[in-house]
Amino acid sequence: MDLETEAQRRRTFAIISHPDAGKTTLTEKLLLYGGALHMAGAVKARKASRHAVSDWMEMEKEKGISITSSVLQFDYQGRRMNLLDTPGHADFSEDTYRTLAAVDSAVMLVDNAKGVEPRTLRLFEVCRMRKLPVMTYVNKMDRPGLEPLDLLDSVSKSLDIRTVPFNWPIGMGRDFVGVVNVVTRKVTVYDRGQPGGTEIAKETHLDLESDQLRAHLGDERTDELLEELELLSMAGDPWSLKDFLAGDVTPFFFGSAMTNFGVRPILDAIAEIAPGPKARPTVEGDREPTDDKFSGFIFKIQANMNPRHRDRIAFMRVVSGAFERGMAVDLARTGKSIKLAKPHSFMASERSIVEDAAPGDIVGLYDPGELRIGDTLSTGGKLEFQGIPRFAPEHFARVKLKDPTRRKHLQNGLQQLSQEGTIQVFVREALGPADPYLGAVGLLQFEVLKERLKNEYNVKAELVPSEFTCARWVAGAETGLAWLQNRSDFVLVKDRDDRWVVLAETPWKLDYAVSQAPGLKLLDVSPLTDEGLPS
Ligand code: G4P
Repeated sequence: MDLETEAQRRRTFAIISHPDAGKTTLTEKLLLYGGALHMAGAVKARKASRHAVSDWMEMEKEKGISITSSVLQFDYQGRRMNLLDTPGHADFSEDTYRTLAAVDSAVMLVDNAKGVEPRTLRLFEVCRMRKLPVMTYVNKMDRPGLEPLDLLDSVSKSLDIRTVPFNWPIGMGRDFVGVVNVVTRKVTVYDRGQPGGTEIAKETHLDLESDQLRAHLGDERTDELLEELELLSMAGDPWSLKDFLAGDVTPFFFGSAMTNFGVRPILDAIAEIAPGPKARPTVEGDREPTDDKFSGFIFKIQANMNPRHRDRIAFMRVVSGAFERGMAVDLARTGKSIKLAKPHSFMASERSIVEDAAPGDIVGLYDPGELRIGDTLSTGGKLEFQGIPRFAPEHFARVKLKDPTRRKHLQNGLQQLSQEGTIQVFVREALGPADPYLGAVGLLQFEVLKERLKNEYNVKAELVPSEFTCARWVAGAETGLAWLQNRSDFVLVKDRDDRWVVLAETPWKLDYAVSQAPGLKLLDVSPLTDEGLPS
């Protein structure tokens, strides 16, 4: 394998959005334009046929592991695209955030009538933390929405990022007929074609200053369009690839995933300007993708809910070197050697055994329970990537045991499942580890926890919602921690790494603490080292 060429042609990305912005629709259309689907409808149909709220329940139903939609791989313009699914709706969980640790760029999907919504904002913050380049796709232009200029402005303000339009919409709602490439000034006009855009939309390419365009749009609309573009060129931020790659600028694309208008330009941009795999920090220094020693890390583990199928799938992102089926790798955490015998890759509709994989690719590994989130697998000497942070939970619960004699098993199960990343466990000194607080980013995590405790640890637990809604890791000066410790209205707990975490009923209570406590800093992401933390 020519590592350099193979790594360079990988485009590993995720779509981030608020539920209902059209992620499923856009995903499907990217597959349609990428040639991985011949007729759109399959992905949506699968989504619609899901009776249960989650893949978990689906898995149980199928008595197998259903992971086909977690990673979609297809080729486009000589690139190998790896699209990682970030579940929304009820499936939303810490996995969604962790998936962003395994991609090299993201497409932020925005509903043209709504602008930036809360979930998008949260996911964008994770991208920013990783300095991920983000492209923005404004969807549903076939419906009336906010003015494009206002959208540019509002995204820029709410995310504190520079916005540069790459293409500009011609009309909106029923009048949305195409887009202009702002750089080349070429116009693409679309034909509506099949309802729902089940097939690639017919495109006509015209020059902006051409008579054909005037004939197509009429004088009034053409002049309006030219005026808008003139305004843009005077008022807009200049495009800079460097700033985009640094995560400081987001290029804007307008379109309608449903009708396929403007889908090709975003896919072209992913192929052309989105970055390939980069070097990744390890505890000892950066590891380049072209390093011929293999390395990868685990960013997601999907356990089987069926008690008869104990195996789990660990999702590994290849960082450097060539992955080959059957290879033996070292697991940094334990120092043990593991043979990767039955690795899987993921295609649009089926799982298949993977023979080899390059940096940027995702490989599914059968895991008998050895692997954890953030684990490094490598050959050729000791290597450990920086861990994957945990994100502040938004839901909290206490555990009530149906059979108190199972307490030890419960503790054991909670410890293991928290290490795997299923749930976060916090211990309050006064109550001890037997009565912990559980935290989750998505409510579904609690359902999964209950099922797994029952199936794997034979523990029937009831989860009682707690009064808390936010948690923050305590950082900054010792005086800040001391202030919190002296207040009876703040609850302090410790996470599994023995770091202080404050729980609160409302976010404003945390703001109040920061404003009052000398030197206190509160973090919504777990620190990767103990530096700057009070003990
Ligand atoms: P999600 O995965 O982000 O949750 O969104 P999804 O694609 O399921 O889309 C949410 C709704 O928005 C769907 O309508 C979908 O058809 C619609 N939608 C997606 N893209 C566009 C677009 O470009 N234009 C318009 N007008 N609508 C769009 P629904 O009524 O909930 O479902 P369905 O019956 O249409 O499937």
